[in-house]
Amino acid sequence: MIRRFYIVTMGCQMNEYDSDNLSQLLINSGFISTDNHENADLIMINTCTVRAKAQQKAFSLLGRMISLKKRRPDLILGLMGCIAQQESMGLLKKFPELDLILGTREIGRVPQLLDRIMNKNEKIVATDLSIKRISPVRHDGYFKGRVKGYISIMEGCNNFCSYCIVPYVRGREVSRSSKEIIKEARSLVSQGIKEITLLGQNVNSYSSAEREDVNFPMLLRMLSSLDGLIRIRFTTSHPKDLSDDLISCFKELSDLCPHIHLPFQSGSDRILKMMNRGYTREQYIDLITKLRNIRPDFAITSDVIVGFPGESENDFQMTLDLIKKIEFDNLFSFKYSDRKGTLSEKMDRKIDEDEKSSRLLILQSIQKGITLKRNKNYIGQVEEVLVEGDSKKGDQLTGRTITNKIVNFYCNIKMIGSLVKVIIKRAFINSLQGTFIKGQQDTILT
Ligand code: 5AD
Ligand code: SF4
Repeated sequence: MIRRFYIVTMGCQMNEYDSDNLSQLLINSGFISTDNHENADLIMINTCTVRAKAQQKAFSLLGRMISLKKRRPDLILGLMGCIAQQESMGLLKKFPELDLILGTREIGRVPQLLDRIMNKNEKIVATDLSIKRISPVRHDGYFKGRVKGYISIMEGCNNFCSYCIVPYVRGREVSRSSKEIIKEARSLVSQGIKEITLLGQNVNSYSSAEREDVNFPMLLRMLSSLDGLIRIRFTTSHPKDLSDDLISCFKELSDLCPHIHLPFQSGSDRILKMMNRGYTREQYIDLITKLRNIRPDFAITSDVIVGFPGESENDFQMTLDLIKKIEFDNLFSFKYSDRKGTLSEKMDRKIDEDEKSSRLLILQSIQKGITLKRNKNYIGQVEEVLVEGDSKKGDQLTGRTITNKIVNFYCNIKMIGSLVKVIIKRAFINSLQGTFIKGQQDTILT
C-alpha cells in the first residue's frame, strides 16, 4: 500500500531543516510526499512557539486538521517542533485526536515510532531533550532542483535571554561534528546546491570537541574550500560572541556573503540588561562599524522587540535612535509577548497592547523609509545574482545578490543555479528590479 505524507512547516529555518530531515526519513521508509493534505495518510505540523502569534497560528491549523481526522480516523496526525517540545504530554490531553507528539531532538526515531502507531495503535509522546540528535539520513537526489540548502551546525541555546523560550524548547547548546557537517555539505553540493546557510540558534558559539577543537571561523574556512559551493551564509549570530576572528573571515573568504543577521533587540542599555543580552548599545555599534569597514554595503539585518516589560518612552526613543544611526537593510520587529516559564514573564510593569502596537507602527514606518533608501543605493549598480527560479508572478527570473537582496529580472534563457550579472534599475521595499546583461553570465552551472 502506498502511504502519503504531508508536512506543514511554520517558524524558522531550523524547522524547515527539521522538516526536510523528516521527509527524507519518511521517503527512506517507503512513504511518498503529497502536496494535498486531503489525500495524506500522515500529516505532521511543525510548529513554532517563539511568540504568542506563532502559537495561535499553529493551534488554528491543528483545529482544521483535527476536523479532517474526524472524517478520516485512519489518518495519522502528529505535531512536532517547539510547541510539541514545550507542551509534551499536555497536548495529548487537550487534543486526544493527535497520534504523535514529536520533540525537537527526536526526529531520528520517527520510523520506529510510526511502526508502533500503525501496528500497535499506540499514541506516542516523544520529547526527550537530553538525547543527542542523529545525523540526517540522506536520500540521494532529494535536493535536486534546489539552488539553496541549509545545514544545522549546532542546536539549542545557553544564553537565556529573559524573554526567550528557545533554551526551554531546543535545549542546551550541542554542536555537531565538523566532519559530519562537511560530509553533509558535500552531499548537498553533489545534488546541485550552490549556496549553503549554516543554521543554529547561536552559530558563533559553535564548538566541536573532536580530536582537534574546531570553532566557528575554522568551520567556515573548511567549508570555503569545498569545490562547487559558491556562497556561504549563516544565521543567527549573537552580538556578544561576534569575534574579530569571525569578522576577519568576511575579508578573507570570497564565498562568505557580506550579510549578517545580528539581532539587537533594544537600543536602551537598561532594557538590554533586563533582557540579559550581555552587550551595550555602544558595543553593538562598534561591531557594525567593524563590519562596514570591510565594505560599506555590508548588509545588516536584525531583530527588535518593542514593549518589553518596563520599556519607557525614553527607552523606546533609544531604540528608534539606534535604528536611524545604523540604517539596517531590513528589520524584523516584534511586540513583546509573554512566554510561559521565561524570566520576563514574571516581571512587572507590563506594557499594554495598544501602546505596544503604536510603538511597533512608528518603528516600522521609520524602518520602511530606511530599507527603501538602502535598496535605492543599488540603482545603476551591476550585481552578481544567483538565480533561484521563476519570480512569484512567474514572468521573470528571481535570485539574490551577495548581500541577500531579492532581484527580479526578465530573461528568456532558464538559468536556474547560475551566477548572472544584472544591472539594477528600480528598488522597492522587498526587492530590486533589474535587466540581465547578456553574455555576462558566468559558466552556466547547472
Ligand atoms: N516576544 C517578542 N519577540 C520575541 N522574540 C523572541 N522571543 C520573543 C518574545 N517573547 C523575537 C526576538 C528574536 C526573534 C526570533 O523573535 O527578536 O530574535
Ligand atoms: Fe533566545 Fe537569546 Fe538564545 Fe537567541 S540567544 S535563542 S534570543 S535565548
